[in-house]
Amino acid sequence: MNYDMLTKQALALAREESWYVPLMANVSALIFEQMKDLNWAGFYIVRDGGLTLGPFQGKAACIHIAPGKGVCGAAMVQDRTERVPDVHAFPGHIACDGASNSEIVIPLRKDGRVAAVLDIDSPLLDRFSPEDQVGLEALVRALEAKIRF
Ligand code: SME
Repeated sequence: MNYDMLTKQALALAREESWYVPLMANVSALIFEQMKDLNWAGFYIVRDGGLTLGPFQGKAACIHIAPGKGVCGAAMVQDRTERVPDVHAFPGHIACDGASNSEIVIPLRKDGRVAAVLDIDSPLLDRFSPEDQVGLEALVRALEAKIRF
């Protein structure tokens, strides 16, 4: 997976429109199209102290996630990437799509606080490598510099 290219494409989109709705929608589409073996890719937005479903690609998903709940809520509260090789072994995992077996969630910060998370799910076990984590974190850092809520 060429993460430099993915980040360049995301930055080109951000130059055209930095508002989070179309930018997150198109970045979800880029990820879903270009990464192999995914069943869901999208964003949850921090709202009223919890997470609310944002733009995504994949099946209809849980709308509200409480802080600390599931992989997304854990990544939000701990403000760090959660790379989960087997979601069934993750305490409190929220099964939105029964097809998911592994997952990676990366917090996106604005003004020093978590403002959203990027959530990517795969039907394969252990789909996301440390290299995927580095590439996706670089993408999120690039988005943080441009995105407008
Ligand atoms: N599995 C996530 C919930 C979101 S869906 O995967 C789209 C979690 O445990 O936080």
